[in-house]
Amino acid sequence: MASEQILIFDTTLRDGEQVPGCKLNTSEKMELALELEALGVNVIEAGFPISSPGDYESVHAIAKIIRNATVCGLTRANQKDIEVAAAALKPAARPRIHTGIGTSDYHIKYKFNSTREEILERAVQAVKWARNYTDDVEFYAEDAGRSDDAYLASVIEAVIAAGATTVNIPDTTGYCLPHQYGAKIKYLKDHVANIDKAVISCHCHNDLGLASANSIAGVINGARQIECTINGLGERAGNTSLEEVVMIIRQHPELDLFSTIRTERLNPISRLVSDIMRMPVQPNKAIVGSNAFAHSSGIHQDGFLKNSINYEIINPADVGADSSKIVLTARSGRSALAYRLHKLGFSFDRNDVDELYSRFLAVADRKKEVEDLDLMELAQNYQTTIASI
Ligand code: KIV
Ligand code: ZN
Repeated sequence: MASEQILIFDTTLRDGEQVPGCKLNTSEKMELALELEALGVNVIEAGFPISSPGDYESVHAIAKIIRNATVCGLTRANQKDIEVAAAALKPAARPRIHTGIGTSDYHIKYKFNSTREEILERAVQAVKWARNYTDDVEFYAEDAGRSDDAYLASVIEAVIAAGATTVNIPDTTGYCLPHQYGAKIKYLKDHVANIDKAVISCHCHNDLGLASANSIAGVINGARQIECTINGLGERAGNTSLEEVVMIIRQHPELDLFSTIRTERLNPISRLVSDIMRMPVQPNKAIVGSNAFAHSSGIHQDGFLKNSINYEIINPADVGADSSKIVLTARSGRSALAYRLHKLGFSFDRNDVDELYSRFLAVADRKKEVEDLDLMELAQNYQTTIASI
């Protein structure tokens, strides 16, 4: 058994729902929240209560029905946001307020027209306000990925002293390389005197396709929470994908980390999120894409059919996916053809398969994929031909 737990903070209902076209109503959000709890996530970020009356109502409704996971509401670093979030979270068994402010010089200058000193004061004040309502306060240093490390460390130390119990280090713009993001987390571990009093959280966006890699670099360097979404949904190119980081941790025992996610629920919840948000999953998406366990080239198919370990590092059943598929295309080989014919109930010897293979290629060159119906026709025509000889 791995020794250190990575907390899974799901933000599908907040960062994921910000995606154009993915907006959910309260009952859809409640349904998803219950599924997330059943999946085993530790924290559900239910929404941004001050953003609209509908989002307030959703966070309030979720706070009432979720009993095991922590329910979290997002705020900016101002008193009104925090009061509203606290009211929305009131019925929660485990409420968390997630407050914060931008700490990069870009945000300080171009977003707040402020100074580093003033932003640090506002950060501390926001955490103190939030602590009036709950002992579980998470602080986010927005655009931490592009923030100066020494300044970031001083903000993090001050907010922990003010009562933050989790400190979120977002790579808001998805800019960092994995070794840079990992080094940032290590820098905070080494330079923030009271860092042991808080959990460090990764919140990485996917603008350069590095969100999962950056989150893993974060936990390798001492972060103990990952913020992520089902199917990697989120602003712009998305967030860290929950299914990816959970499976990376599980498939790499040398990391000595574990999560409480029931991985066999990953594909069902991915489909639910895709349906409810009307957001298709790309076929080649890791873990939950329709091609994640499909083999189509002759070399791979032959190796896979000899032993699945040759070409699969995950058993599809472990992530609730349908069993592996042998897809027949013009790149497939004889062993794949023989396998699929056998599955359809035909038993041909080697010579027959050789003969059928050239007929199969003629069909495959015309079609993108050769389906069961095509194969049946091919096999039955062949049987008729040899019966008439
Ligand atoms: O990406 C980000 O920085 C965020 C914060 C609001 C946590 O989503
Ligand atoms: Zn975000």
